[in-house]
Amino acid sequence: MKTSASSLYRTLRQRLGAWYDREARDLPWRRDVSAYHVLLSEVILQQTRVDQGMSYYHRFTEAFPTVYDLAAASEDEVLLLWQGLGYYSRGRNLRRAAQIIVSDFGGELPRTLEELSRLPGVGPYTRGAILSFAYNLPFPTVDGNVYRVLSRLFALTDPIDTGAGQRVYWQLAEELLDREHPSRHNQALIELGALCCTPRNPHCPECPVQEQCEGYRRGIAETLPIKQGKTRVRPRYMYYFLVRLGEAGATSRLLRRRGAGDIWQGLYELPLIEGGEEPLSTETLLAHPRLSALLGQLRAPRLHPQPRARAKHRLSHQQLYAELYLIEAEGLMPPTEEDEQPWLLIPEAEQERYAMPVLLTRLLEEAED
Ligand code: ADE
Ligand code: SF4
Repeated sequence: MKTSASSLYRTLRQRLGAWYDREARDLPWRRDVSAYHVLLSEVILQQTRVDQGMSYYHRFTEAFPTVYDLAAASEDEVLLLWQGLGYYSRGRNLRRAAQIIVSDFGGELPRTLEELSRLPGVGPYTRGAILSFAYNLPFPTVDGNVYRVLSRLFALTDPIDTGAGQRVYWQLAEELLDREHPSRHNQALIELGALCCTPRNPHCPECPVQEQCEGYRRGIAETLPIKQGKTRVRPRYMYYFLVRLGEAGATSRLLRRRGAGDIWQGLYELPLIEGGEEPLSTETLLAHPRLSALLGQLRAPRLHPQPRARAKHRLSHQQLYAELYLIEAEGLMPPTEEDEQPWLLIPEAEQERYAMPVLLTRLLEEAED
């Protein structure tokens, strides 16, 4: 297994390198390579296409030929040159990074990940790019192009927008790295993603590593990479019941602690009926067996059949829609064996001591208005 993986990696390195030597675009920051030029070009290209970034790269290298010139510039000057690129913190960070390079590193970009981490706006990708492109040091680097190429080459379905998924790609990039030609190798992966392994309609027939490409072999290349954020947002309808017990002035309410295996583990909430992905009609809700069971646990309950409050709440993968109903009762019946979880009877004044989901806090606030 080990040997077959390493011979596959060797083939990939060779083919990617040879392809890059033939096909690489003649880009200005590749022509005149310096760590400062790599820093400039990579920060400019962070959220910008190469064709758009090119003119900004020229502007910056003309206005600030060295890192000392950039460090000495005013923020206004830098932002003016940055105009139109968007994400202006990139421009401000670039100037501050130049100042640190001058003040702390004698005007030369450092050659370690740790030192580069001290530069604002310089993340893992840019650090790897500086170390490999500029200094030809054996560090991997993974940008959006590389995520796409690696996920397709190895048919990886790990999401590229989670920390756990990203570690898989960085680990793979480290193992695949051509330690003799780190600059060429890393740029080849980026270039393949830009020219050949494009997001839509990848040019697989002309690809130098098509024979090694597992995503191509399985016919799933274009569906990769996977982003978790793209997964469907599930609607979820929730019906809460504010159960007020006792006389005015000494009222308590029912709460219970949420268990494991779902959202809000360990938070407190009111009695709840879940509608699932569809709303429940009022008739269905009022005839719900869980509502009957709840009412059966109360002495002299009065259910108000109009919702007192409505609220929406978006979680990463769920869109919650909630309603709050009021039930008044004189007290609680003694618990029976089959009660699934004993209720907590909490004096209204003490409720703040129990952590609740924001959704529920908002429902309660709205109900009190
Ligand atoms: N996109 C981001 N960095 C790049 C680089 N150095 N060359 C080409 N495209 C890029
Ligand atoms: Fe990308 Fe297609 Fe090449 Fe695979 S064969 S790396 S999917 S261009």
